[in-house]
Amino acid sequence: MSKSRVLSGIQPTADSFHLGNQLGALNSWVDLQAEYDCFYFIADQHAITVEYDPEVLRNRTRVSYAQLLALGVSPEQSTIFVQSQVPEHSQLAWVLSCLTGYGEASRMTQFKDKSAKGGAGSASVGLFTYPILQAADILLYQPEFVPVGEDQRQHLELTRDLAGRFNGRFGEVFGLPKPLIVKATAKIRDLQDPTKKMSKSLPTGCLFLLDDPKKIEKKIKSAVTDSETVVRFDEENKPGVSNLLSILSAYSGESIADLEVRYEGQMYGPFKTEVAEVVVDFAKGFQERTNELLADTGALDQQIASGATKARSVAQQTLDAVYEKSGFLR
Ligand code: TRP
Repeated sequence: MSKSRVLSGIQPTADSFHLGNQLGALNSWVDLQAEYDCFYFIADQHAITVEYDPEVLRNRTRVSYAQLLALGVSPEQSTIFVQSQVPEHSQLAWVLSCLTGYGEASRMTQFKDKSAKGGAGSASVGLFTYPILQAADILLYQPEFVPVGEDQRQHLELTRDLAGRFNGRFGEVFGLPKPLIVKATAKIRDLQDPTKKMSKSLPTGCLFLLDDPKKIEKKIKSAVTDSETVVRFDEENKPGVSNLLSILSAYSGESIADLEVRYEGQMYGPFKTEVAEVVVDFAKGFQERTNELLADTGALDQQIASGATKARSVAQQTLDAVYEKSGFLR
């Protein structure tokens, strides 16, 4: 029996993935490979919807790809590619944009948030149509599941609406992809303000996996905790300590309950030291694997290109069916 398909993407918008990316999403990408036929991609076309520098983007795309491999996403098991190398994404996006209502697109909350930040009127049309490109990313591969965070749910809803609308108007081409809610990976919080989600836009509280290990250690040791001295999981009253417990548990495999017992009667110092140790330990190996891949860009680019070839063989079939139904000359 053939495996069902999963698809997900990540934007190359930082110099390094951070611990929240890893524990919140990317580790599950790795795990899903055992059960699903996985398609994973670097969404470089989405990264140009806001102001950017071309050389920085090119570099981040390679570094992101290398990091996926270093985390354990496997080019043998899965199809891993870069969006802009598969032109069918843009081609399908155009067809879908002609099926999207202007008002419908205007209701996307992520666009409203992002465009509000930049000041009214400065947002690009590309930022506005971002969710339609995302719908194309997904529908080209006809996945059964799309693992996404809560913030992407509305985009997946739009994807389903557009798929259904295309089918209804022109004939059945698309299945309706379902969100895959990846179970109970803890939401990782900012180390300086644990009421906020860890995010690259708050770098002082963010653990970048490619950061200098010394810097990682320092950030963990200066993480905000609370005025008690009890290592106990209580997200409401002890968000800082709970966050560190989640991190330690994720890297060590030891349950939070066991950690609480082991740290009974101890202060935060030794606890933080152990958290720093496990994260730094992981980061060192991770950095070694990433740098090894980046040391030979020729070989890496070849690997990226073969990912695109694999992806295109699927994407072309879908686009073909879409063009046929859409009334384009074949
Ligand atoms: N918008 C997603 C994010 O910022 C990235 C993305 C682009 C994506 N296309 C996708 C995710 C398709 C899943 C499926 O996280």
